Parts: sequence; structure tokens; C-alpha cells
Amino acid sequence: MLDKRVEDLKILFSQEQIEKRTKELADEINRDFGTEKDLTLICVLKGSSIFCCDLSKHLKMPVQMEFIRVSSYGNAKESSGSVQALDLTLPNLENKNALIVEDIIDTGCTMKFLIDILCRTHRPEKLKVVTLLNKKMARKTPIEPDYYGFEIDDKFVVGYGLDYEGYMRNLPYIGYFE
Ligand code: IMP
Ligand code: MG
Repeated sequence: MLDKRVEDLKILFSQEQIEKRTKELADEINRDFGTEKDLTLICVLKGSSIFCCDLSKHLKMPVQMEFIRVSSYGNAKESSGSVQALDLTLPNLENKNALIVEDIIDTGCTMKFLIDILCRTHRPEKLKVVTLLNKKMARKTPIEPDYYGFEIDDKFVVGYGLDYEGYMRNLPYIGYFE
């Protein structure tokens, strides 16, 4: 049984705020990547599933979506620092534009791991990173996203893809427990 209740969440970003910001991020990405060349979205499961799908709806270039799975947290609320690749199956990305889509960058360990692997083995022509949330203060490795939705304090947040012990990903807003 879950020891936390959705009713006790404090809302950090409402559904409307997230929708507005997601559209703004897509506008920036459309401008930077242009509308001619294909873009491969690399959605990091499970957390960024909802953000990635919503973002993709506003993109104007031909888009392909790929899904990879890594794990750094297990069920703990603290990042373990060691990243585990669960499924990194990707098509050939040589000469392609690619965009890693994350829900949140916390310590940065996951993103560093992904960028290293992608650059070493997949070698896309252009690789950028978008994350909805940026926990800048929690960084343990010097990784910065090319685009982010909101910067947040070092607190544990849930909703809109982000989970608490596997639950609450389905909430349309982002909140935290005080
Ligand atoms: P990092 O490797 O420490 O940057 O952690 C990245 C991953 O940890 C994210 O993709 C999330 O899945 C998870 N994570 C980090 N902070 C939170 C949080 O506040 N709530 C839920 N998941 C989080
Ligand atoms: Mg994630």
C-alpha cells in the first residue's frame, strides 16, 4: 500500500502551465531543427512518456519516436548514481538529427550516460537534449540540457510521468509532498 495520498500533494505546475510551456519548447525546437529534416525523438521511459508524446504533437518536421529504458532510482527517492541500461535498442542514427527527451535531469548521471553511449555508438549528425524539469542544484556531473521547461529546487516531484513508487505518473499536473 502506498504511504502517500494524492490529496496531500502541493501543486507545483498545473496542467495549463505544463501545456503552455511544452508548446513554447516545441516552437524553439521547430526553429532550431527546421521543418525539412527528420527528427528522431528518443523518449527515456518511463518518466518522459507523457511529456514526449505531448511535445511531439507540436513538432512540425517529420518525426520518428524511439523508446529506451534506463533505471537509476530503483524505488528509492535518492538517485543511486549508477545507471542501468534496461533497453537501449535504437535504429541507425548516422546522418540523423536526434533529440533526447527526459522528464527531469537531477544528478545528471542518466543524461551523461545516454549522451556518452549515443555519441560513441550511434553518432547522430546532431544531438540535443530537452527535459521538462531541471533540478540544477542537484547536479553531480556537468550536464546541461539544450532546452528545459522549468527549473526546480531539489525536491522530489511526482505526476505527469514522474512516479512515486511506480504510482502517480498519470496525474495531469506536477506536485510534491511537504
Ligand atoms: P539523474 O540521473 O539523477 O539525473 O536522474 C534522472 C532520473 O531520476 C529521471 O529521469 C527520473 O526518472 C528520476 N527522478 C529524478 N528526480 C525525480 C523526482 O523528483 N521525482 C521522480 N523521479 C525523479
Ligand atoms: Mg526519466
